[in-house]
Amino acid sequence: MNHLLSIEELTAAQITALLDDAARLKAERGRHASQPLAGQTWAMIFTKSSTRTRVSFEVGIRELGGFPMFLSKNDIQLGRGEPIKDTARVLGRMVHGCIIRTFAQQDVVDFANFSGIPTINALTDDEHPCQILADLLTVKEAFGGWEGKKIAFIGDGFSNMTISWMWSAKKLGFELAVAAPAAYQPPATFLEKLDAPNVLVTTDPVVAARGAHVINTDVWLSMGQEGQQEKEEAFGPFQVNADLVARAVPDHIVLHCLPAYRGKEITEEVLEKHADIIFQEAENRLHAQKAILVALAK
Ligand code: CP
Ligand code: NVA
Repeated sequence: MNHLLSIEELTAAQITALLDDAARLKAERGRHASQPLAGQTWAMIFTKSSTRTRVSFEVGIRELGGFPMFLSKNDIQLGRGEPIKDTARVLGRMVHGCIIRTFAQQDVVDFANFSGIPTINALTDDEHPCQILADLLTVKEAFGGWEGKKIAFIGDGFSNMTISWMWSAKKLGFELAVAAPAAYQPPATFLEKLDAPNVLVTTDPVVAARGAHVINTDVWLSMGQEGQQEKEEAFGPFQVNADLVARAVPDHIVLHCLPAYRGKEITEEVLEKHADIIFQEAENRLHAQKAILVALAK
């Protein structure tokens, strides 16, 4: 594995190996036997806001012996229009790896190709692979695995989170039910490419939630979509509230990648009732990031 750009390009074996390593690194936190990033500097180019991803990568890099260099787009020439391929060719000669959060997936792909250094997608408009690894780790901790489990995603049917969940279901074979308003469902071209009979897409949140072991949601308006009121208005019936989660199996869990907007995609009541697992999910970002870094460190 040279880069982590998407769940789409990972194999099931690569995903399970990363999750096994994340669990090991979680158990060994504070006494890691090796420091695979010793002497290395990893750049972090972020053109969107971040709390969890930024902090987990900065802490993870340090705990593996490396030095994180955070580069907001406002601090570097990229923000003034320098092309990503030029930024990549400069950083590729100076740092040992790069973590990028931005809009276009192509920018992350171009950075990987032009820099020649390990490149990690820390969220684009198309995928959020690091988050999904933490989520899968959390599902594994809760249920021992995903075999025979139904995972529901209620919300935007074609956001970075949903797309990464759909690719995970394709790779790992679990049942995934995505409930989204008709106008915000994955397009037919995507579903044809996905070709996953274990992924159900519906406009009925009850159909998705019924019998689910995991109820998952995310913001209705992703970063870059702020102010799209028309979009937000379509999501009213897709709120994860007490009525909806009552359709799930009795020992269900609720996941949210955070940040959460209470009263929109999830109620205060449901979020706080499931806060332990939701913040365990957030903590798992750190352990999953470390597994990715260990897998990519040269
Ligand atoms: N879930 C997630 O990626 O959070 P941040 O935007 O805070 O990094
Ligand atoms: N879909 C959300 C995820 C935030 C972590 C966004 O892109 O804003």
